[in-house]
Amino acid sequence: MFSKRNLRWPFFVIFILLATGVVATIASAQEGKSVSSYGPTNQETSFDQIKAARMAVKNERYKEHIDLLNSRYDLSQKTAPDVNMSGGKAIPVGPTAKLRGINWEQINSLSPEQIREKGVFPYKPLPFADHAEGGMLFPEMISKLLPRLVRFDLDFDLPEHFLPDPAPGIYLTTRPDLGDVAKGRLITIENYYQIFNGILNPKQLEGLRLLLTQFPQQQFNATEDRRSDEPSLGVTCFDCHANGHSNGANHLVGDIRPQEFRHRIETPSLRGVNIQRLFGSQRALKTVEDFTEFEQRAAYFDGDICMAAKKGINVLERATQVHFMAEFMALLDFPPAPKLDIYGELDQTKATARELNGEKLFNGKARCAACHPTPYYTDNTMHDLKAERFYKQEMINGMMMANDGSIKTFPLRGIKDSPPYMHDGRCFTLEDIIEYFNLIQQLRLDPKEKQDLVAFLRCL
Ligand code: HEC
Ligand code: HEC
Repeated sequence: MFSKRNLRWPFFVIFILLATGVVATIASAQEGKSVSSYGPTNQETSFDQIKAARMAVKNERYKEHIDLLNSRYDLSQKTAPDVNMSGGKAIPVGPTAKLRGINWEQINSLSPEQIREKGVFPYKPLPFADHAEGGMLFPEMISKLLPRLVRFDLDFDLPEHFLPDPAPGIYLTTRPDLGDVAKGRLITIENYYQIFNGILNPKQLEGLRLLLTQFPQQQFNATEDRRSDEPSLGVTCFDCHANGHSNGANHLVGDIRPQEFRHRIETPSLRGVNIQRLFGSQRALKTVEDFTEFEQRAAYFDGDICMAAKKGINVLERATQVHFMAEFMALLDFPPAPKLDIYGELDQTKATARELNGEKLFNGKARCAACHPTPYYTDNTMHDLKAERFYKQEMINGMMMANDGSIKTFPLRGIKDSPPYMHDGRCFTLEDIIEYFNLIQQLRLDPKEKQDLVAFLRCL
């Protein structure tokens, strides 16, 4: 991007002058200002000025973030030779978290206070790629297919091997006989009708169409403060919940202020929403219908109703549109788990000794089942894991390492299909999950027990 500009140096000089001017104006405006719940509406600033201001900080902020990722994690690709995601993509293997001056056995024996004092907790909250800026951010595997999702001011941060299948399988509760209906295709407005006509009823088909329709959003819209080069019609639900699952797109939670306390949130799978009772990692909305309305009215605009009005909120009609969309979402089944029986437990005749031992630990010593009971491995409620026992509250790259509070117990059925894990994606692999809970619950698991638990999770 910069090399092209270099060729046209007079424009480049003007651009730099403009950029510094805008940054200075914004900075000086912010100095005297008290913290507000509202975002700036920028009516008096042009698109070019806003873009220049963002471009002026882009590289520096991105570098800071990638440096942080590299200091916390080993981002290299390691995969499981024997198990894949349902769609065929290799499963990433960890633990990826880096320990500083200590090994996993030693950290196992420390108390939360000792880990906090030494500053060695490997799973602090994960900041957004540019936390002070925020917004929706899409991985390249989707933005290269749908270039309308490219932000000029921000590049996606996590390597693709830590993300789900680019075109995940779709399993319908109504037609289990069909297996995966998507068959490696990414469902879009262009192909949905041809693929689903004759499988869904017209009401569900219309719900799916709406889930594939662009609606204006904070960064993707037609106003001067958008973050796409061209004015945009907005984003679709399945731009993030690809094929009703997830593609690792993330953003900042809309309902916390100030900015540094907002959580990074990873797109959860919509598979199995039919058996769930709470929606959203912390909001605990009670129905899929409520969440559908909330996504588009509030989450799309960072919870800022003024922005929503300015940028073109699309108000869905509850009785028809919202219900239609929710009805389609409720058809999305978990992927097949051939080793589980009708109770959702391992079938003794199909599972290996390792996997069976993992299940025993899950229900016994590791106490995972206390919050993740069969058959779907969720208790449909929320828990405060109090991870802040392990680290000090401090600002890192624009994010306050603060309390997570109560978070929804995500179901573990089909879990191998949806890295990165936790509401903010701080655990990139199932091995990291086991290390996380080993510390959080102070379980003191040995290396073999940890591996067996991972083997069990991969069966779900
Ligand atoms: C930026 C990508 C993105 C887009 C676009 C998006 N979502 Fe989401 N969705 C998320 C994230 C992130 C969450 C988790 C929210 C949280 O943790 O509070 C979520 C949560 C949900 C949930 C609750 C799932 C659960 O397990 O609790 C539903 C239902 C949902 N979205 C439906 C929709 C619908 C319907 C649309 C379109 C109107 C939509 N989403 C658009 C990212 C997205
Ligand atoms: C006290 C309740 C509790 C216990 C015990 C517990 N979990 Fe969880 N689990 C949760 C909650 C709450 C979350 C979501 C936390 C978050 O996103 O920050 C979660 C998240 C997860 C996730 C990530 C889900 C996703 O979709 O990203 C996995 C995997 C998981 N737990 C596995 C386990 C295993 C394995 C154990 C036992 C070693 C365990 N859990 C013990 C409550 C619990």
